[in-house]
Amino acid sequence: MVSLKLEEGKVFYALQKDSDIIFKDSQLGFEFANMPPMYNKLKIAGIEKSSFAETWEQVWGEKRFIDNKYNQLIVHLEDTGKLKRKMDIIFRVFNNGVGFRYAFPSQANIDSLIISNEKTEFYLPNVCQAWWIPAAYKENSYYESLYRHTPINQMDTIHTPVTIETANGHFVSIHEADLTDYAAMTLFCTDSSKLVCDLVPWSNGIKVYAKAPMQTPWRTIRLADDAGGLITNYLELNLNTPNKIKDTSWIKTGKYVGIWWGMHLEKYTWEMGPTHGATTQNVLRYMDFAAQNGFNGVLVEGWNKGWEYEWSNHGEEFSFTESYPDFDLEKITQYGAKKGVSLIGHHETGGATKNYENQLEDAFKLYHTNNVHAVKTGYVGRFLDGKEWHDGQYGVRHYRKVLEAAAKYQIMVDNHEPVKQTGLRRTYPNLMTQEAARGQEYNAWSEDGGNPPEHTTILPFTRLLAGPMDFTPGIFKFENPGHPNTRVQTTIAKQLALYVVIYSPLQMAADLPENYQGKKAFQFIREVPTDWQVTKVLNGKIGDYITIVRKDRNSDDWFLGSITDEKARTLTIDLSFLDHGSEYEATIYADGKNADWKTNPTSVEILAMPVKATDKLNLNLASSGGQAIHFKLIK
Ligand code: NOJ
Repeated sequence: MVSLKLEEGKVFYALQKDSDIIFKDSQLGFEFANMPPMYNKLKIAGIEKSSFAETWEQVWGEKRFIDNKYNQLIVHLEDTGKLKRKMDIIFRVFNNGVGFRYAFPSQANIDSLIISNEKTEFYLPNVCQAWWIPAAYKENSYYESLYRHTPINQMDTIHTPVTIETANGHFVSIHEADLTDYAAMTLFCTDSSKLVCDLVPWSNGIKVYAKAPMQTPWRTIRLADDAGGLITNYLELNLNTPNKIKDTSWIKTGKYVGIWWGMHLEKYTWEMGPTHGATTQNVLRYMDFAAQNGFNGVLVEGWNKGWEYEWSNHGEEFSFTESYPDFDLEKITQYGAKKGVSLIGHHETGGATKNYENQLEDAFKLYHTNNVHAVKTGYVGRFLDGKEWHDGQYGVRHYRKVLEAAAKYQIMVDNHEPVKQTGLRRTYPNLMTQEAARGQEYNAWSEDGGNPPEHTTILPFTRLLAGPMDFTPGIFKFENPGHPNTRVQTTIAKQLALYVVIYSPLQMAADLPENYQGKKAFQFIREVPTDWQVTKVLNGKIGDYITIVRKDRNSDDWFLGSITDEKARTLTIDLSFLDHGSEYEATIYADGKNADWKTNPTSVEILAMPVKATDKLNLNLASSGGQAIHFKLIK
């Protein structure tokens, strides 16, 4: 339940779920650089109420049909000063969450809005626990931090989504939806439990430049009785505009391999030279491997001129149309077409967005002409164009421009070093997947040793609430000779389970092809789908373990992924998610008896057994282990 209060010209909202107070009176409003503020001299000029219900179908996703049912309240506010400026606040109340946004209608006394501060508050009733990562200007520019678990009053300025456990053991995720031509929201804590919006600024300190009429992104609050309930909640998707791409026949989920991990292991180089990765010959080898194993994509990094400079500081040197001489785009794509494998293009910008924008049309035209329907983009570097944040209005505008241009040329996008997702994939379903978290690559070279075992047991409850992640699972060989103190801190069975636990419509089999040779466990990666009818969370504790099951969108099969942190554990699950009355063959990829991520990570046991909906299974997970299961419908 949302309630509103006007007191001495200030507007507050409060939020309660059953008897649990989620937010007590929390203020709303703005400060501007070009006009008086709008947060303390307001009156209510009117309200409008309505209801809405629909079920819509995702082009692809973790769930095919999504219910969108809410009650809406629009509060028309007016300032009591001479300017009589108008501002609306729109609330949408769902069964499992709330969204609200501000709107400035077209009006005589507001033309441009130069927002210096959005004052939105989320005032928790007491000091709750939270899982969070620090905001850009505190640490990493694109969300690649390890999650912290602290009381909210010990948080830094943080990114969203942030996950909070209330004193009553309920779960709350604060995030945003429809981030369009605005700055991303970060939050800081004041007065021990009040979270306050802090928009990511332009380099000159201004937060947002806008013109009326305009509306802000939605401020979103997911609510759940248990942590897993946060995951099967599609609030931000519901608060985005429906699909704008009419013909979606070219948008295809799938699995890919790529000339990628080899660079992170320092076996290959991006730039041309004696160990260049992206040579025609090497790419054809990857194409063959993809075709043999039923994958539809091969990612190729390091194909274009520009890597020979110190590229993360000289992105302006990148050409997106000129290949290195040892890479023959036409030959490769024609070869792939015969084998049913597409090239996944790559545009690393080094953060030089102007250079990229200048070449965008030509770059996408080149790919379109050569039947390349997906591109991985990259923005390595602390700032964009030397001074702007990835998640300020500057970055938000750039990423949207790329996405729209890509849609025009029928190209899917896998965006690394992006601005966080806010449900935009509903509007532009060519926004397939993003990085925006510490992915597998840290396990190749990170000086802190790699992602600790608990990392992937936190992601599903935090970062992944925002949208799909290109984590790039599937590493079978865990050491990197170049960085002997860094390694993949999991077992093989956990790597398999990540294909189900971490949703991505484009899912990479990240290891070198030679590391899959003769490995029976690879069969799971060959079989696991990337587009689902339905998703269920069977159990989970943030930072400890999680089990997810998903039903294939194109068959009657179910897949399970279960992972644990450094603690070995047995989880008992019942199979009532399966169709009652049907019989399945379960192929189980479990940690071997003595498996352990430190001492015996490659031990996997594969067994097949008949199961039905009334059965129970014990999942034995080793230290940083996991389990993956394919339930095949027999009859
Ligand atoms: C960082 C990306 O996350 C990684 O996947 C890529 O290989 C490098 N940048 C180079 O573009």
